[in-house]
Amino acid sequence: MEVIIVPDRSKAALLTARIIDKELRTKPELVLGLATGRTMERVYAYLAVFHQREGLDFSKCHTFNLDEYIGIPSTDPGSYRQYMDEHLFRKVNIRHEQTHLPNGAAEDLGAECRQYEDKIKQLGGIDLQLLGIGGDGHIGFNEPLSALRSRTREKALTPDIARVPRRAITMGVGTILDCRRCLLLATGESKASILAKAVEGPITAMVTASALQLHPRCQVVVDEEASAALHGQDYYRWIFDNEPEWAAFRDLDNLEPR
Ligand code: GLP
Repeated sequence: MEVIIVPDRSKAALLTARIIDKELRTKPELVLGLATGRTMERVYAYLAVFHQREGLDFSKCHTFNLDEYIGIPSTDPGSYRQYMDEHLFRKVNIRHEQTHLPNGAAEDLGAECRQYEDKIKQLGGIDLQLLGIGGDGHIGFNEPLSALRSRTREKALTPDIARVPRRAITMGVGTILDCRRCLLLATGESKASILAKAVEGPITAMVTASALQLHPRCQVVVDEEASAALHGQDYYRWIFDNEPEWAAFRDLDNLEPR
């Protein structure tokens, strides 16, 4: 794992979007794994601007989202399909057929999950998977105690009064670990303690993001607030400031859209 610490949430989203921008320009037929949640909204806003102002081209790429609710149609404003259409897909040049989310309204949910895995395989696997982190350390909807080798499946969600759907289809932790590159974005002080557990704590199914420690190429982008509980901050900053891989990403002002 590598941890990149930037001053604030806007810069963290900018850096994340620029990493995606670089991957997509290097490989236009990229298979891109996407995530939902408030944290990602700024990343998608940047990607939309890169498309509009700088010609970032989505026409050849395919996207796979981590998860989708069960029990609501994809037309429901609370569905992740609607979230993705609103925040990204409608704003860039990607055809609907190239954007994949599990169908939480499928009659046979087991078959839907298997087909989702098959589709990822058919397209050559996920090149870059974008991830957020839930308050309990979950990635996708891999709630605490999810098997660390799990595949796409139906999952009961931890009870939350504010959230109506009780179940979701989610890529498994094993599905996520199969991608070629992982990029986790966490911002804000509310994520500080769980992020430290995921990055520096023991690997445990209680914090499914900790399984990312097993991934050979996983980078974690955080703002100062979310980095507050990390012990190895000095080392992480040194890596970002000195490793050649990050040279093009260090001057954050230069990453702003023109
Ligand atoms: C949900 C999603 C996750 C996301 C998490 C955090 O649980 N299934 O993929 O990472 O929310 O969301 P937020 O960015 O709003 O904190």
